[in-house]
Amino acid sequence: MELNRRTVIAGAAAAGIAATTLGGTAQAAPGHKPVREPFGRLADGTKVYRWSLENGGTRMKVLSYGGVVQRLEVPDRHGRYANVSLGFGDIGDYVAGSPYFGALIGRYGNRIGKGRFTLDGTSYQLSVNDGENSLHGGAQGFDKRVWDVEPFTRGADVGLHLHRTSLDGEMGYPGTLRTRVTYTLTRRGEWRIDYEATTDRATVVNLTSHVYWNLAGEGSGTIEDHELTIAAARYTPTDAGLIPTGELAGVAGTPFDFRRAKPVGRDLRAGHEQQVPAKGYDHNWVLDKGVTARPEHVATLRDPRSGRTLRIATDQPGLQFYSGNFLDGTLTGTGGRTYRQGDALCLETQHFPDSPNQAGFPSTVLRPGQTYRSTTLHTFGA
Ligand code: GLA
Repeated sequence: MELNRRTVIAGAAAAGIAATTLGGTAQAAPGHKPVREPFGRLADGTKVYRWSLENGGTRMKVLSYGGVVQRLEVPDRHGRYANVSLGFGDIGDYVAGSPYFGALIGRYGNRIGKGRFTLDGTSYQLSVNDGENSLHGGAQGFDKRVWDVEPFTRGADVGLHLHRTSLDGEMGYPGTLRTRVTYTLTRRGEWRIDYEATTDRATVVNLTSHVYWNLAGEGSGTIEDHELTIAAARYTPTDAGLIPTGELAGVAGTPFDFRRAKPVGRDLRAGHEQQVPAKGYDHNWVLDKGVTARPEHVATLRDPRSGRTLRIATDQPGLQFYSGNFLDGTLTGTGGRTYRQGDALCLETQHFPDSPNQAGFPSTVLRPGQTYRSTTLHTFGA
């Protein structure tokens, strides 16, 4: 049966998909190739660019600096757009001190105790930048580096390949790490991240993305009324420096139980001993599904006011849920409003913190000849 051309176009438009006609049949137009514009310079003169992507109803702006997602806009239940990711309007603010807003994190997401680990009998000392520990790759992690960016369209998908070679010894890590991160906006408006890395010496790798979500819109206030679900019966308790103790503790009967949708604020002030050093939630959840060959759904975030939802799928074994505890009213964001404690939350798909020092945790070792791969899919709804 031949489809009525007008019906198809109307349907595509209703679904937020641009429609074109080719030889009398209507098709979803492939997304447009990402567009580049200047976004200032670093102190050494390096130019920073901002790329704009749009597909399937999702709009996104990405910086060559840190692979930062500077804006991410999705509609609410009435079709009204808001920027749901915290960030800055100016490159100077990112350089002056961003708490990883929207950034790519490497070589190692979250903390490595005392910035030290031993691999194949050799001890390595990493850059220490969080008390006595190494956080998010050290003082000059992937979030503070300029990436080579290459736009693409593939069928109805659009995206960016971000490349960076981290030299042997950078921030104390062994091995030259060749990294490629691909951001794809699918024709359904999903944001997919594919991480890939290879090394020429045995090393450890744990890449993630540090978007701060506020589904009501950045700068609109607290996320305590957002409802969160995490498919995890256990989490990794930490010491006072937020380094996992090695224990996998049950969430049942604790504030860490998000197996059923729960407002983030409900147990945020429960006074559980694990919430004290973290000033709230800043923990790794042990995803029930474990390491999987393909991304599986692990978490849902919902803002009841706007109706916006975010579903996260990953192949990784862990999810760091950070409730924006260290936002303290000293930073002014993209929309000109101040960010205060709990004004956003992060859901970082990853291997567990401090895995290089924890024999019981899934391994983060990467050897020559192997390819590190990790995929995270963000699906938006309203
Ligand atoms: C991660 C860490 C937190 C904090 C934030 C950024 O989520 O676990 O402790 O460092 O990044 O401030």
